This record gives sequence, C-alpha cells and structure tokens, in this order.
Amino acid sequence: MSSLTKVLAEEVRKIEETAAVGRAMQTNRLTHHLMPPTGWLNDPNGLCWYKGRYHVFFQYSPFESNGGLKFWGHYSSEDMISWRYEGVPLLPDSVYDCHGVYSGSAIAEKDKLHLFYTGNIKMDGDYDYINNGRQSSTLHVESEDGIRFGEKKVAISWEDYPENYTCHIRDPKVWKDGEGYHMILGGRQKGDKGAALFYRSEDLKNWKFDHELTTENTFGYMWECPDFFSLEGQEVLSVSPQGLTREEFRFQNIYQSGYFILKDGKPEEKSFREWDYGFDFYAPQTFQDGKDRRIIIGWMGMPDADEEYVNPTAESEGWQHCLTVPREVTYKNGMLYQYPVKELNGLRENGTSISGSSVELPVNGPFDLDIQVKGDQGKVSLGENLFLEYQGGDVILTLSETAGAGRKVRKAHVPSGKVESLRILADTTAVEIYVNGGEVVFSTRYYPETQAQAVKVEAADVDGKIYGLKNYVME
Ligand code: FRU
Repeated sequence: MSSLTKVLAEEVRKIEETAAVGRAMQTNRLTHHLMPPTGWLNDPNGLCWYKGRYHVFFQYSPFESNGGLKFWGHYSSEDMISWRYEGVPLLPDSVYDCHGVYSGSAIAEKDKLHLFYTGNIKMDGDYDYINNGRQSSTLHVESEDGIRFGEKKVAISWEDYPENYTCHIRDPKVWKDGEGYHMILGGRQKGDKGAALFYRSEDLKNWKFDHELTTENTFGYMWECPDFFSLEGQEVLSVSPQGLTREEFRFQNIYQSGYFILKDGKPEEKSFREWDYGFDFYAPQTFQDGKDRRIIIGWMGMPDADEEYVNPTAESEGWQHCLTVPREVTYKNGMLYQYPVKELNGLRENGTSISGSSVELPVNGPFDLDIQVKGDQGKVSLGENLFLEYQGGDVILTLSETAGAGRKVRKAHVPSGKVESLRILADTTAVEIYVNGGEVVFSTRYYPETQAQAVKVEAADVDGKIYGLKNYVME
C-alpha cells in the first residue's frame, strides 16, 4: 500500500469517526434510504449480487458535503433490509484517478468481483476540460471477497477512445452474454452530441471498440451513466442526457435520466421516457440479482446545483443526498415499470386500513401508504408540505415553500390516462411515489418542519392501508 493510500484511508476513517459522534442529533437522517456516512453521495456504482450478498457502491466525497474529490463508498446486504457499511474500497490514489474515482459498474465472474470505473485526471493549465486537459481512462480492479480490491489496471486508455469524441467519455457498465463481455460508456461527441460507445472483450482485460449508438438528431450534448439490458426480449438503453430543453410535462430538472426501448437496435428520440418525474433522480444503474430480477437504484439528488436546488443538510448536518430504494424493473404495456422490491414490505408495521372518500390520518415518522383509488381526480397531502394532485392522466407534485427548498412543481402524464393506485414511501426527508404500480414514479427530497403530520387522501372510494416503517438495520 502506498503512503498516499494510507494517508487517504486514515483521513476518511477519522472524518467518519468524528461524524458518527453527532449523528443522534441529526433529525434529517434517513431511515430506509442509503445515505453517506458523512459528506456527499452521488451515483450508485458497482451494483451487483455477489457470493450471497447485494453490493451497493456509491460516489462519495467524505470531506465535502457539497461535492468534491470522489471516492467509492460501499454498503452490502443479504436481504436489502439489513445493511453493512463496508468502508471506502477505491481511493483517488493513483496516476490514473487522483482527480476522482468516477462512476462504474461490477461484474461477478469465476468467483471474482470485477469493478470497472473511470479514473478522472484534470491536467494543470489553461484547458476547457471538455476538448482538452482531461484524461478519462477506464480502469479495472478485481476482488476475491467483494470488499478489498487489488491493483488498478488500465482497461482502456484515454488515448485510445475514438477520434470523434471530446474528453468526456466515462461511466463503464459491463455485462456478459453468449458472445462474451460487453461494455458501454457514455460520451460527448465533438459537435456536442450525446452518444454511447460499445466495447467488447473475451477476457475482461483486452477491450476493442465495437460500435456507437446515438439518436438521429442531437438529444442532449452528453450522455452520462449509460446502461444496457434486455427485458422480455426488448433491448433497453438507459442514459442520463444533459442539455435537453425543459418542457411542461417532461425534462423539468437540470439533467434527465431515462431509457429508449430500442427498435431494430436503434434509439429513437420519440421513444425516450424518463425513469422518474420527481425533483431528485439521476444517474441510475440496474443489475440482475440471484433471483433473476432486474433491479434499479438511482441517485436521489441532482448535479450542478444552483439556487433552485438546495438541500439544507449540507450545511446543518454535514451530509447531502441519498439513493432510492431498490426497485424491481418490469416490462409491461410497451414500457418499463419500477416498484420497490418486495423485501421492503418487511419494514412495514402497524397497518391501518383506509377506506372512504376523504380520509385523514396522523403519522409521526416514516410510512408506507398503499391504496387503490377510483374516479377521475384526487389529491393526497402530507401535512402542508407535499401535495400530489391528479386529474385524468395529469399528475402534479407540489412542494411547499419551506419543504421544497426552492423547488416547487413537477408535472407528469400517466400513459394509461388514469390513476388507479398510489404507493407512497415516505422517509424522514425523502419521498417516493409510485403511480399504478410504477407506471410513473416521482422521487423527491422534502423537509417537513415536523414528522408529526396528517396524511390526507381525497379521492373516490379509497381502499388500502397505511403502515408505519421500521428503520433499515445498520449492522
Ligand atoms: C453523474 C457523474 C458521472 C461521473 C460522476 C462523478 O452524476 O457526473 O458521469 O462519473 O458523476 O462523480
């Protein structure tokens, strides 16, 4: 281990130890969403099922709650309810990644866990860091136990990417099929067009450029965090495009995340659907678990925050952002649905039945509301903090002045044209709303003044339950 590695690891240990002291006083901490031990969290990385455990790595800036030098943090779990913090397996300690251990993925093969990620290097000098001054090699590390990783090796050097790209190429996602190993990377072409690059390998070590995929017309200037998988025989390309124009019902955040169901192997702009319509969702990644489920986890946050987007915890509690709960992805009605993995039902307690047409219930902490509704319109309110209103297939999510921390209204169309069921998973300061079993999803951070609030449902023939939620167990 180099001296730099030792020093960095020790500094992280110290800051996490110090942060743990004040934890009990932090009222905004989450109870069933993974969050950073201290500092900043962004993209989920290296999601996998390996040797009987789920592994969730994440982009982590332990020293800066508003983001900074990136490490990988790591949680693991047997059942997605009890989690163990495994520490910081990847530090920015090599010539390839000392300006950030950027996003990437995992593949379990022949008893080993392989991680592929982007090493970020920004050269000193007068550069724009888009067309010059940045080196983003794809790096590879291996592990026998999923916890400690060996030597960092260059899988694809920054010098070997195709000529028609700027320096923005990153976020490798690796998978295997009958033909061998595949890797997809996100990129910004010269001329500012977002695209995905595909590589192939037979041994996970030597990688050859295969082809690129992009839309006919420019669809954003950069595609971050790409993913590629098949579900029910449909090929899906997921990307996080930057630079789309804001519309009334779509693309309302600064950056977006969504997917194309490929037609004859091609992504068509008109087929792009956002994964999530809330204020906080970006850079998701999927993986297949031991039960053959396709599971997605997103970053419940946004990059490049401005005054429109402020999480008070960065200042008041020294941490910022969290991940969504794991959601199972299914293909239905020509699109993808997402719904909390059923393991999360294990957190439910004290179920109370709800029925009628205007129901009000007191809560005093996290809850899980699961209801069927009839009629053409309705409204669900969480105290005076969050309001979900729908009329036909139009849904409007509004946060109050204080709870919304500057961000207020998002709107979405429900493709089936009608709201028939709602599931709301509410944590202390995070809410996930699933319409019609995950046909449309809204994820948002929110900051109610008190956890004691009334949940009010105004809709025709409401039928369902509201449960209290136990905390995730942190081993
Ligand atoms: C997406 C992203 C990735 C990058 C990482 C750096 O949020 O910008 O493209 O690898 O974050 O933290």
